Order: sequence, then structure tokens, then C-alpha cells
Amino acid sequence: MKFNVITFGCQMNVHDSDWLIRAMESRGWKAVSESEANIFIVNTCSVRDKPEQKVYSVLGRLGRLCTSPGDFVAVGGCVAQQIGEGFLKKFPFVRLVFGSDGVAQAPQFLEELAADHKKKLVLNDFLAKYPEREGGLANPNEELLPPGIGTIPGQAFVNIMQGCDNFCAYCIVPYTRGRQKSRLSSAIIEECTALVKSGVREITLLGQNVNSFGIDKKGTDLSFAELLYKVSAIDGLERIRFTTSHPKDLAPEVIKAFGELPNLCPQLHLPVQSGSDNMLKKMGRKYDRERYLGIVEGLKETCPNIVLTTDIIVGFPGETDEDFEQTMDIMERVRYESSFSFKYSDRPGVAAVKMTPKVPEDVAQKRLARLQERQKHITRESLEELVGDEMIILLERPSKRQAEGGIAWRGKDPGGRVVNIFFEGGDESLQLGGKLVKVKITESKNHSLIGEKVGNPW
Ligand code: SAH
Ligand code: SF4
Ligand code: F3S
Repeated sequence: MKFNVITFGCQMNVHDSDWLIRAMESRGWKAVSESEANIFIVNTCSVRDKPEQKVYSVLGRLGRLCTSPGDFVAVGGCVAQQIGEGFLKKFPFVRLVFGSDGVAQAPQFLEELAADHKKKLVLNDFLAKYPEREGGLANPNEELLPPGIGTIPGQAFVNIMQGCDNFCAYCIVPYTRGRQKSRLSSAIIEECTALVKSGVREITLLGQNVNSFGIDKKGTDLSFAELLYKVSAIDGLERIRFTTSHPKDLAPEVIKAFGELPNLCPQLHLPVQSGSDNMLKKMGRKYDRERYLGIVEGLKETCPNIVLTTDIIVGFPGETDEDFEQTMDIMERVRYESSFSFKYSDRPGVAAVKMTPKVPEDVAQKRLARLQERQKHITRESLEELVGDEMIILLERPSKRQAEGGIAWRGKDPGGRVVNIFFEGGDESLQLGGKLVKVKITESKNHSLIGEKVGNPW
């Protein structure tokens, strides 16, 4: 069977899609480009209106590609969870709908549907426990798959939990991903250990709110900090990252870990959403700016070179000019190295839908533009400060932009910054992905750095 996967949304969706591709390939299916495929899997995101609308336009396109009786589309992820059976009714070529807890079973059902052209299925039940997935890396005897697994050589993502219990007033995720379920810590350690044995050097622990790992007591007796120390101790693991963190659950022990664990990367994505106490309260974030700034101070004290990034929403219902100024102010205080910022978007069923007054689109747009312009400057200034520094880079793949006489590679520093490095005389077949190299930063760009190698990659 030839299949193609289209992915929208967050790192968790990307990770689910990666797993699904490996699981189907291990069953003898072949991942191909869209024009060659017979079966299409669309992994969807519902966090704002825009990505949801994209799903419908993609389905229109795929519908035209489903020309033979065996061709069909499977819709997975958050819009699938939200709309469910509606997809089968609206689009005759959609034959499988699976939500986040259905991913583990999707391979089996994809096979069934490929064998029986009349069958249609919806896998939208939330399960009581974290659903372990078989295949992919969980099967170390898998020979079909290249070592290193994930899409970037040497790097891998490991799920530690599913779902979210926070119900922030604007957010649809608790409805689409269900209740928080921590994964068994033994399964996490086992997967991480196997990955490191297979050549992985950097692991990112994934969850909607990793700091509350273990709080649900579904599958583990460890706190997130304890889990971090255990993963950090895996012999041969050079780098650990984790995402996403909710400030309200960031324990002092986790802050301490940034000072103690040598392989914990100095990087933290800490979504603030707003700098205004009024807005934070209405959003149901359960921290105020003072507490947030206290956490940032603690992090900077423990780990002076920590790279902080964030998510910001502008135009939340009731946001005044003064509220917005507070957000601009918190940006100056923290000096995020980069941020994802969004205009508030009404989502079906969330508490904020009923909150008023809504901020007019043009006001929200102006605020967003101003915030993004300021961020651009801060990003540029922070990157400039790094020129002349030496750092270790984990190489990923050849850079998009190339120059004569060699080949440029893209990699990341411990802080997660993109660094491009030129290798003289190298050719594309040079196997540098997953290798580490020491570089000296020679130039900074708007969003990335340029470095030259000091010594050979290892
Ligand atoms: N679990 C993560 C966030 C997941 S959603 C966390 O708590 O930080 C990613 C980001 O999308 C959020 O941080 C928020 O900034 C944004 N977002 C979520 N719902 C939104 C909405 N209705 N409108 C605009 N942005 C939204
Ligand atoms: Fe959404 Fe809040 Fe949960 Fe993040 S913590 S996924 S923003 S409800
Ligand atoms: Fe989108 Fe679902 Fe992730 S709504 S951001 S794909 S959890």
C-alpha cells in the first residue's frame, strides 16, 4: 500500500505522524509523495480556526485524488476528535477517523480498511490509561527502519503524557486530547534507553504540560523532576529537552535541575500568554505576572545562559490597551529569544467564547504586529551577542542555502538556536547528520547564526 501523511499542529502531532509512518512501513506499506499515494492520512490541529479550516481545503484536494475504489482518506488528530463521525457523513472518501487515543490502534484499522473497501470506522474513545504503542521503536528488532528513528538523525521525541486538565479559557486542547494521562515511567525510561543505544544523542520529552507529569497518578509514581534525573542518567545521552511547560506547575526541583544536570539543555519554552494579571485571571492560567517573573528570575540565576521562549495571545476578550502594554512590558523584562504569538481565536465549546467584549480584529492585528516587530529586534540583539562564542552543535541536515566549494550544514546549539556551518570540500553524501561539532560563531542573522568549525565532528 502506498500512503502519504499530511501533518498540522504541534510537536505532539508531528511525533504521532512519525510513529504512524514507521508503524505502517514496518507492516509493509510505503510512504510516498501525495501524487503517488492511494491512502492519505491527515493529522489535524484545531487550536485556532485557521488550521481547522485548512483541513477542509486539504480534504477537498485529496477527494479529487481518490479515484480508485481502494483509495481513501483517514483523518486523525484534534479536528478528528472534535468533529468525529461528521467527517464520514460529509466526505464519502473519508473512511477512518481517529482521535489522539486512537493513534495506537490506527495501523491495525488502516490495514482492515485497505482490505475491505466498504468498511468505515471512528476511533474516538478516550482511554483510561496512556495507550502504549507497539512497533516503531518499541520493537528493537525492527530492521526496516534506520537507526536514529525520528526525522532528524541523532534526535528523538518521547511522549511522557497525553491530554491536558488545565482548561485554559481559550483552549480546545483539553477537549480534543482528553484528560491528562501520564505514561508509565518505566516505559519512558525503556524507550529512552533503547533510543540512546540505537545512536540517539538528543531526546525531547513531550507532553501538553510536562510539569504536571505524575500529578494525575495514572501511570507513574515519579514527579517530572524525578523523571528528568532518571532520563539524564542514561549512559550516552548527550542532550535532553522537554516541552511544553505550564508555569503554574514548574517545581523548584525542575529549576534546580537546570543547574545540576549537565545534559539538560539550557532552554525552556514557558508560555506566558499575557503579561496582564487581569487577562491571566480570565484565561484561568493560575499564576500572575509576579509569580511568572519570579520563576524566570530563578531560572536565570540557576542557569545564566538559559534560552527562554514563549507563546503569547493578543486580543483575548476584554483585553484593553493597558493589558496589552503589560504584555509588551513582560517581553522586555524576560527578553524572550523568540516567541510564537497569536490573535485570540474563538474555539467551539471553550469558556472564552462567552466572554465579552471581543477585541475588534483590526485592534488585535495592530497589537500583534507591534509585538512581533519588537520580538524581531530582541531576537536579533540576542543573537548578535553570541558572535565570537564557541559552542557545540548537533548537526541535522544540509542547509537550505549552499555556497560554492563545500557544503553548509544546519544544526542546533544547546540553547536550541539554529546554526549553519560551512564544511569545505564536503559533498551532500557526507554523513554528518547526528554528529557533534565544536564551532565558533562568526555572524548572526535575523533568526539564526553562522559558525565555523573548530576541530572535527564526532
Ligand atoms: N500546552 C501548551 C499549549 C498548547 S496550544 C501550553 O499550555 O503552553 C499552543 C498555543 O496556542 C498556546 O500556548 C496558546 O498561545 C495558543 N492558543 C491556544 N488556544 C488559542 C486560541 N483559542 N486562540 C489563539 N491562540 C491560542
Ligand atoms: Fe491548552 Fe492550557 Fe492545556 Fe496548554 S495548559 S493545552 S493552553 S488548556
Ligand atoms: Fe493542535 Fe491538537 Fe496540538 S489542537 S496544537 S494538534 S494538541
